[in-house]
Amino acid sequence: MPDSTAQHAVAKQPTVLVGVTGCIAAYKSCEIVRGLQKAGVRVKVVMTEHATEFVGPTTFRALTHEPVAVGLFDDPSDPIHHISLAQEADVFVIAPCTANVMAKIANGIADDLLTTTALATTSPLMIAPAMNVHMYENAATMANRGKLEMRGVEFIEASEGYLACGDVGRGRLADPSDIVTAVLARLGIAHDLAGLRVLVTAGPTVEPIDPVRYLTNSSSGKMGYAVAEAAARRGADVTLVSGPVALQPPSGVHTVRVRTARDMLQACEEAFKDTDIVVCAAAVADMRPEVAAASKLKKATDAEALSTIHLVENPDILATLGAAKGRRTVVGFAAETDDVVANGRAKLEKKYADLIVANEVGYRKTFGEDTNTAVLIMADEEVTLPTMSKRDVAERILDQALALHERK
Ligand code: CTP
Repeated sequence: MPDSTAQHAVAKQPTVLVGVTGCIAAYKSCEIVRGLQKAGVRVKVVMTEHATEFVGPTTFRALTHEPVAVGLFDDPSDPIHHISLAQEADVFVIAPCTANVMAKIANGIADDLLTTTALATTSPLMIAPAMNVHMYENAATMANRGKLEMRGVEFIEASEGYLACGDVGRGRLADPSDIVTAVLARLGIAHDLAGLRVLVTAGPTVEPIDPVRYLTNSSSGKMGYAVAEAAARRGADVTLVSGPVALQPPSGVHTVRVRTARDMLQACEEAFKDTDIVVCAAAVADMRPEVAAASKLKKATDAEALSTIHLVENPDILATLGAAKGRRTVVGFAAETDDVVANGRAKLEKKYADLIVANEVGYRKTFGEDTNTAVLIMADEEVTLPTMSKRDVAERILDQALALHERK
């Protein structure tokens, strides 16, 4: 299994400066900003005056929660704004970049905040051009591009297709998700789940006895939430189906809150059709009271009902999804107190999973803790992980799930 822990561990939150220039594709910069933020990047935006004809700075201010710079003298508190912006950025990406701005930067012209910042920046500069095909193929534009590439500027190639002006040819801004992936690669952040849909279950389920009492399992939800968060950071479209937990929903994740096992199954089945990878990390209650009383059971009058609760089996969500998986990759957990690996392997077969993450549970082991000691069990392989944070275990699970998925 690839050792990607170092790749995923980003010491400080990286900052990307997104430059937006005056082009019909400027609205797509919003998607680029969101994609970068989803990967855990802090984003700041600098715009040309012309760009504001297409998208207002307020839009970017709302998306980034950062001031948005347009004019050289916009920030009275910072008279050398172009220098501070340049110094803050780990990568400066101009997307979309017009022929005019490419020409200015190629020739060292710095007559507004964006081009001045480009000249002042020492961090990697990336350009995603967007323009009419004839402007793009013009010898002047090609020469400017050549000059910039010679200086180490990385281009994210425009694609071919119908252009806003009605022409057909190269000049369409690259797909925003490809731009995000290219920028993240430059930052050394994996974005290898882009284009995949991941469904995660997390937390316990609660099975009502009456309106105030219920049966449940121990589960903080931390493991499942870590998987959902990591998958979103790595570019996946994530649905998290969560039982009641005291955790904030991870940003950029579609979170569906449920209470009972049957509700969890229903929510999973709704998301399952479009899913590529399923990770069942929930501690689903195996049994539920056959009847949930409509009113609170009273000790004095309902002693019989309180002392003898008749239980029926809940649906097994992992086994149900596993049996219907088709080309999907299905990951489950095995919470065991004894014979961890043998029990985990039995669950791999019984629940039609591609991967079982087996761990020993009990008092002060796994439940509620921030660390986990897990064995990844697959049909033809077993990987014993050292004790590590649940966040790192989440990355390893996703590495392995992706490798299995690519082999299908
Ligand atoms: N699981 C599930 N639905 C259930 C029970 C379990 O989806 N009704 C899933 C869990 O999310 C986990 C895996 O099945 O991924 C194994 O859960 P675990 O509690 O270890 O096993 P059980 O199936 O409950 O088996 P046993 O109690 O016999 O160990």
